[in-house]
Amino acid sequence: MTRKLIAANWKMNLNTHEASLLVKRLDQHIQIHRDVEIVLAPSLLTLQPISLQIDRRKFRLAAQNAYSKDEGAYTGEVSFTMLRDLAHYCIIGHSERRIYFHESLEDVRDKVQAAVRNGIVPILCVGETKQERAGGETNRVIHDQVVTALANLTAEEVAELVIAYEPVWAISTFGGEVAKPDDIAVVLRQIRHQIKELYGESAAESVRILYGGSVKPDTANAYLTLADCDGALVGGASLNYQQFTAIVEGAYRLTQQERSDGRA
Ligand code: PGA
Repeated sequence: MTRKLIAANWKMNLNTHEASLLVKRLDQHIQIHRDVEIVLAPSLLTLQPISLQIDRRKFRLAAQNAYSKDEGAYTGEVSFTMLRDLAHYCIIGHSERRIYFHESLEDVRDKVQAAVRNGIVPILCVGETKQERAGGETNRVIHDQVVTALANLTAEEVAELVIAYEPVWAISTFGGEVAKPDDIAVVLRQIRHQIKELYGESAAESVRILYGGSVKPDTANAYLTLADCDGALVGGASLNYQQFTAIVEGAYRLTQQERSDGRA
């Protein structure tokens, strides 16, 4: 059984004070769970103070974005090199970045490579739009996003990676339709299969695949129980400590159940 990974994507929300308050609440309510890894992705501005505040036995940190060059004259950017000691993970290729900030497949590939070069684990986001799904293009879109993003990595590097399947139409920002777990299962399986074809069995078994898109306490476990689902990337619900705690506790109960069912 893989440890479940539950990641909180706070997006461009919470100033330093608010973020610190949320961490305090989460710390009060969330236990240390051996089978659940909890990752918080605050804004770049609050990453540093939060890194000093968190109990590292309980939480790991992720950046939400960084630039693919390590240093130089790139006004306004922050590099993965600068994040090395602060963040364990970085969300890369989120649909809000692909759509609002026009990040291309190649931009995402370069960021994935830069993250790995700097010892930061990418949480690579992939997902199709509503139109692409309606046009029967889901497989092709996901395939292209995965192939390009991982193009410069070795099988060993891919094995360490996290991939988050986030259908654009299911993300609260873009409509927030609640996705049917059966539909999600098909794509998660396809992603793992694709990793197997490209990088071999061992990488495919090790790579962690998350689901993201309007994950809430009452819907989370239907996704987390899917065979290929290793966790969730949570947006809106992660800003509310009660909801996020409930998702983490739900994941914990699930892993306990799996253990006692002998599936561990
Ligand atoms: P949501 O966001 O849970 O608010 O839909 C998920 C995400 O964008 O990562």
